[in-house]
Amino acid sequence: MKMKRIFREIAAVIVLPLALGGCSFFNPAAALREQDEADAAMEDLINVGFSQLGSESAWRTANTESVQNTLTEKNGYFLLYDNARQSQQNQIKALRSYISQRVDVIVFCPVQETGWDTVMAEAKKAGIPVIVLDRSIEADDSLYTTFVGEDNREEGIRIGEWLEDYLDQQGKGDDTENIVVLKGTEGSSPELGRSMGFNAIAARNPNWKILAQAGAEFTQAKGKEVMARFLEEFDDIDVVVAQNDDMAIGALEAIQEAGKTAGVDGDMIVLSFDGTKNALELVQKGQIAADMECNPLSGPLLSDVIQKIVNGEQVEKEYYMEEMLFTEDNVGRYIDGRVY
Ligand code: AHR
Repeated sequence: MKMKRIFREIAAVIVLPLALGGCSFFNPAAALREQDEADAAMEDLINVGFSQLGSESAWRTANTESVQNTLTEKNGYFLLYDNARQSQQNQIKALRSYISQRVDVIVFCPVQETGWDTVMAEAKKAGIPVIVLDRSIEADDSLYTTFVGEDNREEGIRIGEWLEDYLDQQGKGDDTENIVVLKGTEGSSPELGRSMGFNAIAARNPNWKILAQAGAEFTQAKGKEVMARFLEEFDDIDVVVAQNDDMAIGALEAIQEAGKTAGVDGDMIVLSFDGTKNALELVQKGQIAADMECNPLSGPLLSDVIQKIVNGEQVEKEYYMEEMLFTEDNVGRYIDGRVY
């Protein structure tokens, strides 16, 4: 709120003389009055510094838009936004700049799980509450106020349980299943959590053979590249686990280009995470067998939590988004309403 006033003052120094010189009908007293009114309105805004980790996926774009469309001036916010382009260093730089600008609240989506303690301690020392959004972190939890996001381990467990049930229903519960895994950004909580959750289910199914796991950075291009490599290396893949939809879509392109088919009646089945509209359409076509939702629309919940913090109310340490699993059986009910 203080920072906004500084911006206004700078603007007044630059704009006022220009206006005075260029417009014969200019009324300085009215302009200053308007300026004061605008300042007073701005004083009430909550200044939020938001560091987004990048723009690697359709999910990420939806998450950024959800925050930007919720934390608007109309809703009482002044939002500072930075896209870190997948760099933790850039994120730390953005967080430090928000600290020096003395924002009211810092929000960040951490590109990886570790390495945040020092900068969060600096925010704490400056008395600025920190909200960890989307991905969880491995850190001293007294350094941040709360977490708003997804339970990635649970997502991994749910997709693994779906595979277990599906194979049982097909009468293939004891057959050898050759699995390859396209992992997201190494060291990020969705990569670690989804791997941990899925591996826990795989561990109780000795007939599941994980042939290979490789990072594909949550992007379609990398997903395609890594899947093409897997297809060259292994000719008997039964299950592809892609840790997000962009990589699943890339993998499907590679499968098609290799002359193979995906689907319950195809050469292999593809499992994915996120539940973007494009991917749900592929679930409906049977090319993705199951898609575990990861809900990016956290802006409204984030706003509720910020309001509580600035009003001095008690907040929970963790808030989780509601998520569901999509298959051919239920997906038809959700595609039309999908906004991302
Ligand atoms: O943190 C959420 C994950 O990050 C989503 O699954 C993925 O698409 C994104 O890039």
